[in-house]
Amino acid sequence: PEPGWTVHADAVVVGSGIAGLTAALELRTRVRRVLLVTKGVLSSGSTVWAQGGIAAALDPTDSPAAHLHDTLVAGGGLCDPRAVETLVTEGPHRVRQLVARGAVFDTTADGEISLTREGGHLTDRIAHAGGDATGAEISRALVAQIEAVRDDPGIEVIEHALVLDVLTGAPGPDGAPGAVAGVTLHVIGEGSRDGVGAALAPVVLLATGGIGQVYRSSTNPAQATGDGIAAALRAGALLGDLEFVQFHPTVLWLGTGVKGQLTLVSEAVRGEGALLLDTDGVRFMPDEHPLAELAPRDVVAHAIVRRTAATGSDHVWLDARHLGGDFFARRFPTIHERLAEHGIDPATDLVPVAPAQHYHSGGVVTDLDGRSSLTGLYAVGEVACTGVHGANRLASNSLLEGLVFAHRAARDVAARVEGGFLPRVDPVPRPGPEALVAAASRARVQRVATDGPGVLRSGDGLRRALTSLAAIPTDAQQRRDDGRPLGVPQLAEWETTNVHQVATVLTLAALVREESRGGHARSDFPLTEEEWRVRVGVKSGTDGSV
Ligand code: SIN
Repeated sequence: PEPGWTVHADAVVVGSGIAGLTAALELRTRVRRVLLVTKGVLSSGSTVWAQGGIAAALDPTDSPAAHLHDTLVAGGGLCDPRAVETLVTEGPHRVRQLVARGAVFDTTADGEISLTREGGHLTDRIAHAGGDATGAEISRALVAQIEAVRDDPGIEVIEHALVLDVLTGAPGPDGAPGAVAGVTLHVIGEGSRDGVGAALAPVVLLATGGIGQVYRSSTNPAQATGDGIAAALRAGALLGDLEFVQFHPTVLWLGTGVKGQLTLVSEAVRGEGALLLDTDGVRFMPDEHPLAELAPRDVVAHAIVRRTAATGSDHVWLDARHLGGDFFARRFPTIHERLAEHGIDPATDLVPVAPAQHYHSGGVVTDLDGRSSLTGLYAVGEVACTGVHGANRLASNSLLEGLVFAHRAARDVAARVEGGFLPRVDPVPRPGPEALVAAASRARVQRVATDGPGVLRSGDGLRRALTSLAAIPTDAQQRRDDGRPLGVPQLAEWETTNVHQVATVLTLAALVREESRGGHARSDFPLTEEEWRVRVGVKSGTDGSV
């Protein structure tokens, strides 16, 4: 659509989780004008929901080398070791800086940051806050910092704004996409600006988070519609590792029909000693992996799926009874409260859990400074594919990734803007939303994605999913839920279009990878194959093909 208004900035940061807030704070003092755009309010998004914590080698008996080892093992041979080394060596300093910025972590009696364990970690290295409210505390501290500088002319915050497209300049002679020119935005309702506008800038930093809405149920909030991945795809950026979707093993199971955002029961609960039992009461993880309940996340999720198939059940039990009611309520107050809402007392009851979508390891391919394949386009946090997660993210590495790489990207942006390496270019007009998907189709997309590129995949299932996704109407003749013509697209249509595009490219990548590795399990190719120790890249062509 034609933008109704235009603003100018040196850099546009999209998203207000740990990555976006950190990048905006760092850029504010380094470039003249930063625009921070977020789809909800500053404190919405996935970061606030993070429970377990943030991993870093903070204990004197731990080391970045040990953290590197555990990350590479969990990543199933597909991590980029340079990216992981960057993560684990810069991580401890960045976490301490976060404390200096006002984030209050739980501490021991000696005043040291208290550390716990989660799946795949061979030592205690997970820092946590408020027991199981780590993301909420980090978000609170960073939002407070942004609020404190909100009157500063060097930063503007636009809330309730969805980024529609990344704008680019004229393509090169070889047809390659031009440099980034800004974004188009749809400001929703209560926003400080109205309707569709353009924010022109030589730098766009995507920190839009995950893709939970692609699936029928997820631990992600409703905003996780893969907007950054879809916008980057349409702009011609390279995407990678899309097939690696992480299903968290222990999400509160409330029945097969329950959809939407589900309650996470943190891995830290297992870190403190809770056990997994099948519905016959048998503990099964010791037979699956030497680390038993604290095996890497993909191993535990797949073991649960096999176990439920064997017992003919939809869930397993998490047994935390021996931890004691007082301890549980003190150590995991958020989870305790959520369980109580469903009449579950972990001191006396077994907690029903099953895997649900939790995290997307793939995304917009970047280098170690967050640069994507498009000049001026950066990606940080869950939307990015830095190579730190490989085929399966190690628990609590995601907040750390957002933090470490936001700092690196901000530094790189500042240096390139200052050096004149990122000139402003005029955006070339973009074609209209030729493939808009009606909001009413979202449930269908979610069903197809859950059955196709779900926890356990097969070539036939993935091909069926692609056919079903292609059959979903994407033209202007569609009707809204109430029967009115689609007309001017609204937030729900843009988001559903993104969800549909992400589901499609993710399914394609899953079909291409003919092996099982990490978060990608194929019943028709159950083994991990050395020849597949490569990244599957996805890119759109100039004609819109993928
Ligand atoms: C959890 O608390 O179990 C989630 C941690 C993570 O996703 O890294």
